[in-house]
Amino acid sequence: MKTILIAGGNSGIGLQAARDLIADGHRLVLLGRDQRKGKAALASFGTAADRASFLAADLSTHDGVRDAADRILAQHERIDVLVHTTGVLAIQESRTADGLHPFFAVNYLSRYHLTQLLLPALRRAGRPVVLMMTAAIEPTDDADFGRFPRFGDFSFGRDRKPVQLANHHYAAHLTRTEPGLAAGVLNAGAAKTDIMRAAPWYMRAGAKVMGPLVFDSVETAAHNVVEAVRREDWQGPLYWGKPGKSEQHAPIGLSAATTQQLMDTSHTLTGA
Ligand SMILES: NC(=O)c1ccc[n+]([C@@H]2O[C@H](COP(=O)([O-])OP(=O)(O)OC[C@H]3O[C@@H](n4cnc5c(N)ncnc54)[C@H](OP(=O)(O)O)[C@@H]3O)[C@@H](O)[C@H]2O)c1
Repeated sequence: MKTILIAGGNSGIGLQAARDLIADGHRLVLLGRDQRKGKAALASFGTAADRASFLAADLSTHDGVRDAADRILAQHERIDVLVHTTGVLAIQESRTADGLHPFFAVNYLSRYHLTQLLLPALRRAGRPVVLMMTAAIEPTDDADFGRFPRFGDFSFGRDRKPVQLANHHYAAHLTRTEPGLAAGVLNAGAAKTDIMRAAPWYMRAGAKVMGPLVFDSVETAAHNVVEAVRREDWQGPLYWGKPGKSEQHAPIGLSAATTQQLMDTSHTLTGA
């Protein structure tokens, strides 16, 4: 039985992955903001809910991540798998209490920070696994990191790629620095979840019209996460680019100098 922590596991794709993985007999820890959704998620597991728990946490700030990590480490000596499906579709200019854009803070930095703080528990696993969900972002070296990490006057069109590609760099960094740890990034594709709730009206309207034509099911969106946990024959860093097609993945080969620069900046920001 593995202990699997899913940040974002009270909702959408993370919750679907949790349902599949608890059916495999694992122990689940779900993290999210909304206590009500957390309770409903546990209730949906039926009798298996005795192998699951929910922790309410706001991972958009450094303090929120530290507090969550403290509570997790107090309860779990070993974590076998850490899945990051936290995400917000925050496209307008706004700032967290740390002066960062929420899209950067939640969709990248919280993943780096939480994983770094949980490394002692991950290192106790036989084969620790860290998985990060993003949109479709091929691991190539053509992104401009000149505005990383402040992304002043945030523009979603301009800044989404470097924010999300930082996940791929972190997967590469973990693989390089943590012997035996398997790290990967997975494309969520497009699925009907709560992710549109913070989006502007025109994006929500577009999704409502186009959704039935282009969306994958939530089960398909979660499939590669579940298979990456089930299979033990891969070494990172890998990128799964096609939802529902776990056999299709590519190695993440990125500039080591850029990876180091991003990791140094992330360390300076969080202290972790
Ligand atoms: N669905 C899509 O079409 C799509 C497309 C591209 C990328 N993605 C990515 O796929 C991943 C899964 O998203 P989803 O579609 O399943 O959406 P979702 O249902 O909205 O799930 C997002 C999760 O992130 C959590 N979260 C957001 N902000 C948080 C914060 N500050 N602190 C802690 N938890 C926070 C949410 O918790 P609460 O609900 O409690 O707030 C929820 O559990 C995300 O990384 C998303 O960016 C999805």
